[in-house]
Amino acid sequence: MKIVEVRHPLIRHKLGLMRRAGISTKEFRELASEVASLLTYEATQDLELVEQTIEGWAGPVDVQRIKGKKITIVPILRAGIGMLPGVLELIPSAKVGVVGLQRDEHTLQPVAYYEKLTGRMDERIALIVDPMLATAGTLIATVDMLKAAGCTRIKGLFLVAAPEGLKRIEAAHPDIEIYTASIDERLNEQGYILPGLGDAGDKIFGTK
Ligand code: PRP
Ligand code: URA
Repeated sequence: MKIVEVRHPLIRHKLGLMRRAGISTKEFRELASEVASLLTYEATQDLELVEQTIEGWAGPVDVQRIKGKKITIVPILRAGIGMLPGVLELIPSAKVGVVGLQRDEHTLQPVAYYEKLTGRMDERIALIVDPMLATAGTLIATVDMLKAAGCTRIKGLFLVAAPEGLKRIEAAHPDIEIYTASIDERLNEQGYILPGLGDAGDKIFGTK
């Protein structure tokens, strides 16, 4: 399975800022989006191109463009919305399919409450976006949904991932790719990532 911890200095710096206790909603949001852009750049390095001849200012010119149907971004509600602006900044014409899943606080099991995917999923590359990959229950359920809709090319973008979750997703869906700004140390007893970011949804939405 392809798991990439993107160690670009800008990512390391921005993630460090995000880990500060007491960070404001505004700053957390801005940084989540900026790191999402940098992860998108990395995750799209292998997109296929097609050649095309267009009419340029001085006559015909050979150019390249991304091959195939438009990419679909799949933010996982709610916290994934915080990464969406940064991904769209680099892929402004992407389609967006939304899934809603919430972890039960006690069982840590994901509960699905919404699904509105783009059409023709079998012809698109999907970029799942969610700040946290903890136990991977949420990610496994999301990949199940995408595969049920026919999608075969799936990449996941996460700000922080736990080793426990990476092991689980590798066992369940070894064919997907994971891009994360950090593989952290471990999960605590409540299923939170350490050192992690705390509750990413609350920090992005300013709740609690
Ligand atoms: C968080 C996070 C992931 C999930 C990760 O969402 O944004 O979706 O937990 O945990 P897992 O890997 O153990 O499944 P949460 O359920 O807190 O919902 P929210 O986005 O609505 O805040
Ligand atoms: N969800 C979060 O928001 N943070 C974690 O550390 C784990 C799951």
